[in-house]
Amino acid sequence: MINWLHSKLHRPEKGWDPVDPAWAQEYAAAEWQMVDHALLDKLDAQLGGLQGKRILDMGAGAGQYSVALAQRGADVTWHDISHTYQRIAQEKAATAKVNLQWSLGYLEDTQALEPASFDLIFNRICWYYCQHDQTFAQQLCGLLAPGGLLYIHAPNSQFHGDKLSTAAQWRTWLNATTGFKIGHPMLPPRRIATLFADLPISKLEADYRDPRNDVIWVWKAGDESRTS
Ligand SMILES: C[S@@+](CC[C@H](N)C(=O)[O-])C[C@H]1O[C@@H](n2cnc3c(N)ncnc32)[C@H](O)[C@@H]1O
Repeated sequence: MINWLHSKLHRPEKGWDPVDPAWAQEYAAAEWQMVDHALLDKLDAQLGGLQGKRILDMGAGAGQYSVALAQRGADVTWHDISHTYQRIAQEKAATAKVNLQWSLGYLEDTQALEPASFDLIFNRICWYYCQHDQTFAQQLCGLLAPGGLLYIHAPNSQFHGDKLSTAAQWRTWLNATTGFKIGHPMLPPRRIATLFADLPISKLEADYRDPRNDVIWVWKAGDESRTS
């Protein structure tokens, strides 16, 4: 409710941007050096090739994965709240000579995107910015085409160890015990996978080898031939 109210009062289409430009430049410079090509190869293999696939990079930031996926032939939609990151991503896309679709808004602002249309939704390091975790899982499922794949990489509440402020610890505890969100607490380890229990999926694989990060692969039901 608090995050929803905040989102109604702070609109990206009116120029609001929560991201500090200096931080965005620093983050972008680092992330553009660290694109995980093994992950891209795995996504490529899971989708039976990226050429022509419709991909939503959800919370795409500086666009390093949007551009990399487009360079492999995919039709990529960049979606993020930040004008600053959009400008960075647009410059990078122009340099790489790839065309992306641009969609500025909160994670929840996907009304203009076609339902059930994406072969892959790529959601890296931004799940915790959604306003309601269960609703967001449903929303992503609704955007996936039948048989489509959702890739999630989400730092969890162990990520910062004991370095959280008291207020952040309290928000994290509130989210862990009630699911309620004030601000953007990271979810408890292994929580995200449970959000898909009642959704129309055919398969879910969770990688918990790093205890501070949940890595989840979810296949929407509908075309079993597309799953491995
Ligand atoms: C840590 S960055 C991750 C960016 C990118 N996915 C990556 O892997 O580098 C978090 C991203 O979430 C975006 N973001 C923050 N709050 C958001 C919101 N409420 N709705 C949409 N995007 C948001 C930020 O602008 C930023 O691009």
